[in-house]
Amino acid sequence: MKTLLHLTLATVLTLPLAAADAYLPVKSPAPDSATARQTLLANFPRDSRQVVYRWDPRDARPEAERLHALAAFVYESYDSSAWIPQSFIAVNRVLLGSSSVADTILRDLLGLVLWPQNPAAPVFGMAPNPARDQSLSWTLNCLACHMAEIDGVAYLGAGAKTLDELWLGRAAQKVTELTRQTAARTAGPEQATAQRAHDILRQHHHEVFEPLTRGRSTAFPASHVEMHMRAHGGALPDPAKVGRGDVKSPPLWHAAAKVPFQRWYCDGSFTGTFPLMASSMELALDQTFDKLAASVVPQIQADFRNVIQFLRPPRYPHAIDARAAARGKKLFESEQIGCASCHGTYDGQGNVQWTGLHTDVGTDPARLQLVNTDFVSAFQASPLAQVGKLAPSRGYAATPLTGVWANFPYLHNGSVPTLYHLLGPVSARPRLFSVQAARHFDRVKVGQALRDPSAVTASEDEAESLRRHGNDRDWFNAGRTGCDNGGHDFWSRIKTEENRMDLIEYLKTL
Ligand code: HEC
Ligand code: HEC
Repeated sequence: MKTLLHLTLATVLTLPLAAADAYLPVKSPAPDSATARQTLLANFPRDSRQVVYRWDPRDARPEAERLHALAAFVYESYDSSAWIPQSFIAVNRVLLGSSSVADTILRDLLGLVLWPQNPAAPVFGMAPNPARDQSLSWTLNCLACHMAEIDGVAYLGAGAKTLDELWLGRAAQKVTELTRQTAARTAGPEQATAQRAHDILRQHHHEVFEPLTRGRSTAFPASHVEMHMRAHGGALPDPAKVGRGDVKSPPLWHAAAKVPFQRWYCDGSFTGTFPLMASSMELALDQTFDKLAASVVPQIQADFRNVIQFLRPPRYPHAIDARAAARGKKLFESEQIGCASCHGTYDGQGNVQWTGLHTDVGTDPARLQLVNTDFVSAFQASPLAQVGKLAPSRGYAATPLTGVWANFPYLHNGSVPTLYHLLGPVSARPRLFSVQAARHFDRVKVGQALRDPSAVTASEDEAESLRRHGNDRDWFNAGRTGCDNGGHDFWSRIKTEENRMDLIEYLKTL
């Protein structure tokens, strides 16, 4: 099965484009985008029943209004975006003869979270786009990076753990090329969309800035690249001046803790009422600065007002030992161990009195260093300078720990797979673990499995694993640039295995 699957994946991605005729034209049953959108919104209460999220009870709006706001966010698309034609999905299903195999591509290769209960949208993070030519195309949105699957459950707002930005870009290029070629013959309305999307994807393809590993993102330096291009007539910046510091996507529920401090992203380098750097992803779709200021920024601000500020972390889904957790709470708040002095105090209902502290605890500095004078001046020239400020920071946020059980792998770069490893001796942290295994939760160490439990591999030591998988982008290797797993070393204060386990038990309650 595994081999068959790999063959199929390889076939789709290396499909000779000339062979497209053999499979197409696909008579796409695509409805127009306005109808598709209305249907999706109307069915959202039904389709989203299995999605896990928690809402701030202080939100005074009636349930129906709240759900409507959430649906609009989940199906957010931008009138400026031109992305993936409807035939992306249709083509895959036809080529592979079965939707379940197509879904395997979306999940295992691209790393998106499947939405099996939804007959219209196969995955979270894609929404029908009101394309100018009235054909249906799909836009990626916030949830491509801010939604995760853990043990088969979809958690809304959790940071994506398996998304591969590189594959996503490549697949989109390939598919738009395919559609463009076929549509050229049929002269259907999809041609324009595909042509435009394809050209944009090619122009903005910059390998040096793509993440080294699946499940990590270069979204922040990508903003530097797009802002620079927009301010310099489309010229790419010098890669050496952009740098590299891949990070994990953080959960959206941290917004509630951070609002009072107005400092955002893992290094707090962006100051403003809300973090709006994500809006610059629209620049990659060939938009002008004017368009960004007039439509995208206000839309994202509305997301924060209507949805994101009300998101709270999902509760820990398994049993918690209340006595151990109570001991852990004492340790966490004790002067001697001092977690609370940096991370704040928690009410057990998903809320925190956060400290707003950003400090250097010896973790990998690469991501901090991305905010340099070139980035700051590209930012200054953009409309985001009117809604926020960008400035270098000397340390990372002492992360709010709300919902921390689900925020694995830990630290800004996702270099430590479990809380157990994070709170123990640095030398015992694994140097290599599978990124795909992040779909599987480890209840004892709290965090992700180190390798996929269903993969039958002979046990091998770390040196052997490094040799076999060290260069593979499906594996996290602490030896890569920006991936160091050292720092945040509190073992000398925690001291015993009992303290360590009690702290972990307490962290489950946050
Ligand atoms: C391509 C993936 C991607 C997309 C799409 C994306 N984000 Fe993010 N987001 C990230 C990454 C990565 C970070 C962390 C960046 C960093 O700190 O370097 C982040 C950070 C954030 C934060 C956390 C800030 C904090 O300080 O804790 C919020 C809130 C957020 N994004 C909201 C959004 C919204 C709203 C959208 C849609 C408009 C969006 N994101 C789209 C990847 C993405
Ligand atoms: C001196 C301040 C400080 C102290 C004390 C401290 N931390 Fe941290 N902690 C940080 C900072 C800063 C980070 C972020 C580092 C990074 O992302 O590279 C962090 C990150 C973490 C994370 C990772 C969160 C995530 O979502 O990835 C956890 C968990 C954590 N700390 C738990 C603890 C616990 C438990 C204690 C007490 C044993 C503790 N910390 C003590 C500053 C501190």
